[in-house]
Amino acid sequence: MAAVVGLSACSEAVDTHPDQPVTKRRTVFKQFAHTFEPIGKVVRDSKDYNPSEFKASAVALKELATQPWTYFTPDSNYPPTHAKPAVWLQAPEFKQAQQNYQAKVGQLVEAADSGNLQVIRTAVIEVQYSCKTCHNQFRKDY
Ligand code: HEC
Repeated sequence: MAAVVGLSACSEAVDTHPDQPVTKRRTVFKQFAHTFEPIGKVVRDSKDYNPSEFKASAVALKELATQPWTYFTPDSNYPPTHAKPAVWLQAPEFKQAQQNYQAKVGQLVEAADSGNLQVIRTAVIEVQYSCKTCHNQFRKDY
């Protein structure tokens, strides 16, 4: 069985930590990206705006918004992480970036309730900006 497990990874270092916090948080971030995709498409006009579908995506994003952070445990700065040391060295700022993101996602759900595309567009851009701001400060470039 051990040989089979190794197959799922690419060329990157394997997560050897017994609790695998790096793998777990990255799984949630992948879900962020996956859930955000149809939201971003609506704003870029490459997907029709369907109010109930859009609302469901926004709510799903909100549920995910609280999830990755508990996996940034004090002992979890090890390969294959792409987190910058700043996550641990500037913990209050990292926490602030999480709260800012959660607030923006909350506003996205409210915008979805309004059904007003102009309001939605602004809210989506704000969410995207808060992903990017956090990545600039706390995630290494790939
Ligand atoms: C508060 C900070 C923060 C916010 C907000 C944030 N991210 Fe990240 N993201 C990170 C960090 C740190 C990592 C690196 C995790 C690691 O490798 O240990 C990461 C990693 C990722 C990854 C790579 C996952 C992988 O396979 O390694 C994706 C994709 C991603 N984020 C998407 C998003 C999207 C989309 C949003 C917004 C909808 C977002 N993130 C919001 C901090 C954040």
